Amino acid sequence: MSWIHSMFFLFLVFRWCIAGESSSPEVTDDGAPMEKSEREALYSAIQGFSGDSWNGSDLYPDPCGWTPIQGVSCDLYDDLWYVTDLTLGLIHENSISCTASLKIKQQLFELKHLKSLSFFNCFTSPITISKEDWTSLGSNLESLEFRSNPGLIGELPETIGSLTKLKSLVVLENGFNGKLPRSVCNLSSLKRLVLAGNLFTGTIPDCFNAFKDLLILDLSQNSFSGTLPSSIGETVSLLKLDVSNNQLEGKLPQEIGFLKNLTLLDLRNNRISGGLSQNVEKIRSLADLILSGNPMDSDDVMGIKWEKMSNLVILDLSKMGLRGEIPSGLTKLKRLRFLGLNDNELTGTVPSKELETLPCLGALYINGNNLTGELRFSRTFYEKMGTRFKASKNPNLCQYDIVSESRHYVPPLGLKPCQMKKTEGNLVILQTLSNLKKNDESSSSMALMVTRHVLSNGFMWDLLLELSLIVLLK
Ligand SMILES: *[C@@H]1O[C@H](CO)[C@@H](O)[C@H](O)[C@H]1NC(C)=O
Ligand SMILES: *[C@@H]1O[C@H](CO)[C@@H](O)[C@H](O)[C@H]1NC(C)=O
Ligand SMILES: *[C@@H]1O[C@H](CO)[C@@H](O)[C@H](O)[C@H]1NC(C)=O
Ligand SMILES: *[C@@H]1O[C@H](CO)[C@@H](O)[C@H](O)[C@H]1NC(C)=O
Repeated sequence: MSWIHSMFFLFLVFRWCIAGESSSPEVTDDGAPMEKSEREALYSAIQGFSGDSWNGSDLYPDPCGWTPIQGVSCDLYDDLWYVTDLTLGLIHENSISCTASLKIKQQLFELKHLKSLSFFNCFTSPITISKEDWTSLGSNLESLEFRSNPGLIGELPETIGSLTKLKSLVVLENGFNGKLPRSVCNLSSLKRLVLAGNLFTGTIPDCFNAFKDLLILDLSQNSFSGTLPSSIGETVSLLKLDVSNNQLEGKLPQEIGFLKNLTLLDLRNNRISGGLSQNVEKIRSLADLILSGNPMDSDDVMGIKWEKMSNLVILDLSKMGLRGEIPSGLTKLKRLRFLGLNDNELTGTVPSKELETLPCLGALYINGNNLTGELRFSRTFYEKMGTRFKASKNPNLCQYDIVSESRHYVPPLGLKPCQMKKTEGNLVILQTLSNLKKNDESSSSMALMVTRHVLSNGFMWDLLLELSLIVLLK
């Protein structure tokens, strides 16, 4: 044999060896080396979703090499290529589309190195996911996503609990219903659990002690009932907790205060009745707190030491039946951008000046309460806020007209003007008052008293009398 022949022989032996003991390695020189069974499994699995007219070997002879399939990623294991990521359903124009008569073929579960499996907008006709298949993916699958599949109905299979390597389970906006299988408690590697936008019922399983690494928990927009379990306090890494739009009731567990890294707590539109004060204020990291639409014990919410929650950016306390005055602690929250207090039974005056000093405030809703007195925000404030300020539907709140640079500015707030500003004469009086202010600090407070007095009964003569009194006193 010439040396070149022996080299070729060695090369063949070498190629044979790297293929290992695997069943039927197909070694081709013009593509990414892949087990035949892996390739066939991929073709079959996709064909189940795309329909029989999809011919993988025709269209994509080298799926991990020079004819990549949109939605399929591969990786090398012992010098052979295996499918690691598979996304089915229309995301991009050329992604694998699913037919209405799709079949989940057994071959899908033979892709033994699959790490990520996603279905976007794939299941459109009603189908339930069978129980047995998932276990075979258990040793590798790290991410499983079902997004926007209205045809996916029935319960989440019990066997989902065998996917113990899962870091991310996203079951978002499908038609799943029924109770969560108890086996979800097995998924202790999860960092993200999103079950939002389905029709799940029953209680939330009390096994969060298993989820030490969980960062995101989103159970919103289902029909979960019962209370938020106390084990939630053991998900110490949690950043976002969203259980909004369910039918949760009762008090929040006090363990919620253990979630030291939580930045978002969204409880809106449930029937949670309390458990906030002395618990929620311990979560100093909280930036978004959304409690609206829960008929809460007013004293509980009003008892929160708001000034301690200095990282709050979004605070929505609307539609909660809150009574009493606007808590002064709220006016200390320097990072606040959104404050919703609308549709409660709040009384007392609006701390306009204090609220106006909040540097980031960009939306303020106090409409639909029983607030009284005058609104005293500046023109700049109203202009900055635009439609993101609402104060209407407070029958006893009046709008103080702003006179700046001798121009009249009436923000469209849907409030009645404070009585003083109705006639030309009053305007003149206001000028006189501001002149008085300029002259003397002490008389300015007196002048302010006069203004308030006039506002409360609107009597010109009273004002004139008191004005002359001021002048006499001077
Ligand atoms: C795909 O097409 C090839 C011919 O190009 C044919 O031999 C094969 O049977 C087809 N496979 C399927 C699943 O239709
Ligand atoms: C939960 O995990 C254990 C092992 O950790 C396993 O024996 C059990 O079968 C799993 N449950 C389900 C429902 O998969
Ligand atoms: C909370 O966040 C801090 C800073 O990001 C981090 O160092 C810490 O490990 C986190 N705590 C937990 C329990 O994850
Ligand atoms: C609003 O407050 C006034 C007193 O300021 C009270 O007379 C009235 O009954 C309250 N209205 C409602 C709807 O609570």
